Amino acid sequence: MIYTKSPDEIIGMRNACRFAAEVRIAVGQSIRPGITTKELEDVAAKKIKSLGAKSAFLGYRGYPGILCVSVNEVVIHGIPSRQKLKEGDIVGIDVGVKYNGFFGDTAETFPVGKISQEAKKLLSVSEDALCNAIKSCIAGCRVGDISSAIQTTAEENGFSVVRDFVGHGIGRELHEDPQIPNYGSAGIGLRIPENSCLAIEVMLNQGDWHVKILEDDWTVETLDKKLSAHFEHTVLVKKDGCEILTK
Ligand code: MF3
Ligand code: CO
Ligand code: CO
Repeated sequence: MIYTKSPDEIIGMRNACRFAAEVRIAVGQSIRPGITTKELEDVAAKKIKSLGAKSAFLGYRGYPGILCVSVNEVVIHGIPSRQKLKEGDIVGIDVGVKYNGFFGDTAETFPVGKISQEAKKLLSVSEDALCNAIKSCIAGCRVGDISSAIQTTAEENGFSVVRDFVGHGIGRELHEDPQIPNYGSAGIGLRIPENSCLAIEVMLNQGDWHVKILEDDWTVETLDKKLSAHFEHTVLVKKDGCEILTK
């Protein structure tokens, strides 16, 4: 069941999502070689508190962190730790906040200092894939239109799409219907109604699409240990296109 949002709910979503974006930006500005992923979480915790919001992740299905911080071959759900970032790494920051009953969810993968040409290409293609997915999403389109935009952009550039995790509807819950895979065919799947909110998530791998979950039950890594990038925006779907709520 895809919940469409009332005008009041849209205002609630705009607020929660703006806060999520502010946290993502604050954490992004703190990234430098030598900082630990736990210290990045502390930046997020402080910012979330100052906004009067709550982490959407802490305690979600037992998740132990406020933030997901995913370095290099970690695709998503990296748990903040004493791991230090080093020059040349890429680091995915995924932020979820709850404010006044509504959720905002956004992710960006940042370079740490100077990174390789291949890593740069992975980041820019992943960002393009998210941009193309958002452009393909207008009221009345189908889930497959969004999925296909992501997959096509990735594969045309020699990258693969993660298949075991998906984007999702969002609103009064962090995860609502529909699921939005990173692969699929245009013209197929559920229709996206006007005034629905989606968290569109792009997860691209440099190598093969296969991933595994580590012993901690959360960390998702590429099986071949090659790099992976994650970009996510929460959007409001309208007649003439999407409003990006987590810009
Ligand atoms: N941030 C993920 C998403 O984009 C969900 C994280 S689940 C958590 O949907 F448990 F790690 F919080
Ligand atoms: Co997220
Ligand atoms: Co999400």
